Amino acid sequence: MKEVLFNNQEYGQVLTQLDKLMQDAEQISDVDNKVLLYQILQYFDSIHREPLSRIFQAVEDHPAIKKMMLEDPTVSKLLALYDLVKEKAEHKRDDQNVVHVTEDQVTMLTIPKKKDWLELGDFKDLEINKLYPKNYQKVNFLISRIGSEVFAIQNQCDGSFLPIDKGTVEDHTITCPWHGCKYDVRTGKSADDSDKSLETFPVEIEESGLLKVEIAYQ
Ligand code: FES
Repeated sequence: MKEVLFNNQEYGQVLTQLDKLMQDAEQISDVDNKVLLYQILQYFDSIHREPLSRIFQAVEDHPAIKKMMLEDPTVSKLLALYDLVKEKAEHKRDDQNVVHVTEDQVTMLTIPKKKDWLELGDFKDLEINKLYPKNYQKVNFLISRIGSEVFAIQNQCDGSFLPIDKGTVEDHTITCPWHGCKYDVRTGKSADDSDKSLETFPVEIEESGLLKVEIAYQ
């Protein structure tokens, strides 16, 4: 297809820049800003995904146009990003160095984590069944008081960057606000029979009521 705004190489550079920005966005520690950013991205995704799917359906009966679209690296990249087609190998970007290794070449490297106990005030100041987002050393976690106990759990849904502190907790089950995944706040394990899980953090309450949470971080 005819180049309009920039050439294929410039398009690749835009994608590389976007990759870098998304990596920076993952490091945002402020939970509210992160939620806002991901909500905006979700809406952008939706307003593009639906019309793009319709356009792709419309060209199904026009093989010549469809072929032209799929042969264009920018168009096929976009379609692949929205899961409408598989990306052709020759259209993958040169800057993506994919190295294929066999299973026996893979070794586990365990980097020991540092651990700190955080003092988070008197646990009685926490409202029951409320989720409180916290951040320490780039670890997003939340605390929740259930009766006279407090639990600390990763504030990021498994397989996603989205936080779960805007969800609800009931009977030790946290429900993620985005698509409804459920987790047991005591163990971090899925409460809806999926293989998802969240990291939990040790909690101590001193006799004075002082709440302490141990956070492990890289
Ligand atoms: S992000 Fe939590 S259920 Fe989808």
